[in-house]
Amino acid sequence: MLGVCHYNQFSMTVSVRSFAKINLGLRIGAPRPDGFHQLLTVYQTIALHDVIRVTLTRGSGIEIRCADARVPTDESNTCFCVVDRAMQALGTERRVRIDIEKRLPVQGGLGGASANAVATLLALERALKKSLPAAVRFGIAAEVGSDLPLFLIGGTALGVGRGEQVYPLPDLPSIPCVIVTPEIGVSTPKAFAAWDERYGEGALAREGPGSLSGAHPELTLSAPSDRMNELSRELSAWLSMPYSGAPSRWLKRGGRAGNPLLWLVRAGIKNDFEEVVFPEYPELREGKHALERAGAEYASLSGSGSTLYGLFASREGAARAAAKLRKQGWAAQATATLPRPRYWSGMFV
Ligand code: C5P
Repeated sequence: MLGVCHYNQFSMTVSVRSFAKINLGLRIGAPRPDGFHQLLTVYQTIALHDVIRVTLTRGSGIEIRCADARVPTDESNTCFCVVDRAMQALGTERRVRIDIEKRLPVQGGLGGASANAVATLLALERALKKSLPAAVRFGIAAEVGSDLPLFLIGGTALGVGRGEQVYPLPDLPSIPCVIVTPEIGVSTPKAFAAWDERYGEGALAREGPGSLSGAHPELTLSAPSDRMNELSRELSAWLSMPYSGAPSRWLKRGGRAGNPLLWLVRAGIKNDFEEVVFPEYPELREGKHALERAGAEYASLSGSGSTLYGLFASREGAARAAAKLRKQGWAAQATATLPRPRYWSGMFV
């Protein structure tokens, strides 16, 4: 804890790395009465990050500063929402300044804004030398957005409910990956609406079972619960594989056969959002193919996009692929997935 806080007589600052996430498979289920959709996904934190600085001074109010004009600095910012709730829950008053050093792309799919909010919450607690009970912390995170709570766990995590109920999974080893961030903003609510339009009950009633599966032979118009069950089965199979209890053994074994993430990929993970986002933005499908051509073992849209990622068998392969993709005009960065212990040890700057 020492070395992370910078005091002077009037203020103190805590700096935190706000790591991003990707989705290793994502299944969309039925729409719920509250307007959200059932979701089943595996979240995985990665090493790309923003830096958040929280400074406390005497007084009251919340101020957000960010050099990137695309980041809102008013009460619509998730960091503001979280601090507002946390200060109330802690029953304390200070002036809180949040400096967001944006390094992650703002395009979406990496959970940047959600990660920023959780990083802010953790920095705030540390700066105040106060801790919220874990259940309150998770409650605030879930209230502010569906993919905030995952950042209170880090590493490999199962997301259910509307994505806000998170459970730590056996941590995957660090996997080299390439992140591609096309200059496209995909609206998550619109992507869910497009999914409903295409695969919801309305589509079934309009076109009859099987009509869409004819157009897309890889799809069936199974009921949403069946789709969720499918991924559940895949995940159960993955978790019950022999390596799951002994990470160090499969880490040492290395190579393709020993790489549990690639086993998961082979089990058939996929992101449902691709079915509605790619037709709308063909460039993103091209990006996925470009990643595959550059040697990715698996490539996918992350969340509702527009971020794409590719998983690679080696760091060198990922670095080569990123360079190749950049030459082709893609904004590509090589990085690696971040297991839970490293997520937490790397958090406080
Ligand atoms: O929770 P979050 O603020 O990230 O969600 C943004 C929007 O995405 C929601 O208002 C909702 O329209 C949609 N959403 C959804 N089902 C989910 C998560 C998000 O329909 N599981």
